[in-house]
Amino acid sequence: MKTIWKENGTFEGSGKERGESLWIQKEYRNEHTEEIKVTRPSLHMDITAEVAVIGAGMAGVLTAYLLQERGLKVVVLECQEAGSGITKNTTAKVTSQHNLIYHKLMMSKGEDRAWEYAMANQHAIEKYEEIINQLGISCDYEIMPNYIYTLDNEQRIKQEVEAVKKLGLPASFTSETTLPFQVKAAIRWERQAQFHPLKFLDAVAKKLTIYEHTRVTQIKSGGNIITDKGSIRAKSIVIATHYPFINAPGYYFFKMHQERQYVSAFQGEDIMQKARLDGMYLDADPYGYSFRRYKDYLLIGGGSHRTGKYKPLNAYTKLEKAALKWYPKAEIKYSWSNQDCMTPDSIPYIGKYSVITPNIYVATGFNKWGMTSSMVSAMIISDMIMGKENEYQKVFSPSRLMLSGSKKFLKDAGIITASLLKEHMKIPHDQIKNIEVGKAGVINHDGERYGVYREAEEKYYFITTKCPHLGCSLEWNQNELTWDCPCHGSRFDYRGKLISNPAMRDVFDSCLRKKKQ
Ligand code: FES
Repeated sequence: MKTIWKENGTFEGSGKERGESLWIQKEYRNEHTEEIKVTRPSLHMDITAEVAVIGAGMAGVLTAYLLQERGLKVVVLECQEAGSGITKNTTAKVTSQHNLIYHKLMMSKGEDRAWEYAMANQHAIEKYEEIINQLGISCDYEIMPNYIYTLDNEQRIKQEVEAVKKLGLPASFTSETTLPFQVKAAIRWERQAQFHPLKFLDAVAKKLTIYEHTRVTQIKSGGNIITDKGSIRAKSIVIATHYPFINAPGYYFFKMHQERQYVSAFQGEDIMQKARLDGMYLDADPYGYSFRRYKDYLLIGGGSHRTGKYKPLNAYTKLEKAALKWYPKAEIKYSWSNQDCMTPDSIPYIGKYSVITPNIYVATGFNKWGMTSSMVSAMIISDMIMGKENEYQKVFSPSRLMLSGSKKFLKDAGIITASLLKEHMKIPHDQIKNIEVGKAGVINHDGERYGVYREAEEKYYFITTKCPHLGCSLEWNQNELTWDCPCHGSRFDYRGKLISNPAMRDVFDSCLRKKKQ
């Protein structure tokens, strides 16, 4: 069995092997193409465009594609490579069934908004099919039912079925599934889908002008975008960077937090014979598991937690134990994690970035349902830029009133305040020598707070624990050997290198080899 982490939470092996998703493996990603790797240029001069999309993940690529199809000159700017952020780590379920959301939406927002939310997502599924057919994309797109199940609370499922039926959607109650254990109840939606996200994204991205390794550093008034490689003047700008990088206006840092979740892909005789799932599955309980098939792999997900709020149990070990209970001969082939922006009312922010920036649009807060939310964003924002009212735009409006999620909103604000206080608090001196190899600790040195990761007996990495976004205190994540921010989810590797925004720079303090003290 290829286990890439150890029981104590540290990884065996390093670098490339750590945390690579199934989707980026060449044998699957390039299955139908000769191309090993598309090389795209960076921006190398000042240019103009009708629309500039910032971020070449699924939301950015789809938005650019729909606008280009309508005749606009669009360019996409990406600080790394197309699809290299959140998109490569999704479980790639294309569904309108976003956990048990419809009862909640009907209660908090009313029937009309709940219906708009459902219809926008149902149309997103149809739009995927339309693009796949139009471009002849081979991306292992499979139409199948999606299930949300429960092991104990049947009433919650019944309530959801009732809400969904009232909205006229294709869902029904069942207690029969193809999972390897008995469920108490489940809601089944017909005609949802799963696919290989990067095969799809690569095919669409080929049609676009994308500048890679081009980091946007500033947006000036008049639509002037400054990057580290040149500038772009655009009439409209779409920010599709997962977490918006402009703090004010918009103030998204105050109305979103991020959560991490973990996935392992299993293979083996057991999986081939027993894991004959007829659809995609998710436990309604946040501590439960999600399931989907891809070729002869079974993907099991779980272990969700707020970024920066690390739970001591090793998430990957938990997934492995669960799989071996149901499929004793299962073998882990790949393990990886992902991160999502969560909104207080569980609805993404799609539309105008703020009321005072009429030509800047945003797509964020996908609440772990990034595939359909990306397509919904593309359809709404492309309509808005074309001057056409989209019938679903109201429910996703970033400037909507947030009364329904106010408790969660206040809790988020509480965590942010606590973290800021912690950063300015003096903590007792930790002895570097007490930090075990493969672990991290926090020390106070010359009045500054530092995070220290001990890679080997005499090799330490130091970072400043003050998050460069808004100054919260970074927390160590032993699952992934990263420093995570509990406020808005920025993440850094153990050397201090930026992995996920909204922060825009590294937190290196010193990555020199220090002698044991
Ligand atoms: Fe906002 Fe760290 S991500 S303060």
